Amino acid sequence: MAENLILPNTHNRKELYQALLPQVEALLMPEDDLIANLANIAAALKQTFGFFWVGFYLKKEQNLVLGPFQGPIACTRIAFHRGVCGHCYTSQQTVLVPDVEAFPGHIACSSDSKSEIVVPVFNRQGEVCMVLDVDSDKLNDFSEDDVLGLEALMRCLEQKL
Ligand code: SME
Repeated sequence: MAENLILPNTHNRKELYQALLPQVEALLMPEDDLIANLANIAAALKQTFGFFWVGFYLKKEQNLVLGPFQGPIACTRIAFHRGVCGHCYTSQQTVLVPDVEAFPGHIACSSDSKSEIVVPVFNRQGEVCMVLDVDSDKLNDFSEDDVLGLEALMRCLEQKL
């Protein structure tokens, strides 16, 4: 597949996710290297939506450790019980935070981050093995469209785990 995304000329996120999903599937299908696939997913999301920060935290021993991402530098290790990422990891559910300052324990890697969504990724044993973290510099920037779109992308990634 050519290494470029073909996207509709719209700001409608639902339509953008619909266009993106089959292209990410095609990008991941021939490649078994996890880091390469995570890097391309982060880049595809950044390119499509212009999110402030998008990346992965991978479960490694007793922490979530920073993986491939797009955006400003970020904290490298998050304990399982800390922050929005930790809450996603322990609850095993997508966490949507409209205002990060209203989320107790939110870890501010950047003061520009205003809202956030974190989606769990499950391995073949059904355990959370990483999370996808997306930050916006706008308040209340994420909706159910992002929940559904990002979860669909993570289900696609799980086929490669
Ligand atoms: N805000 C996250 C930390 C990761 S950064 O946003 C990239 C959290 O509270 O878990």
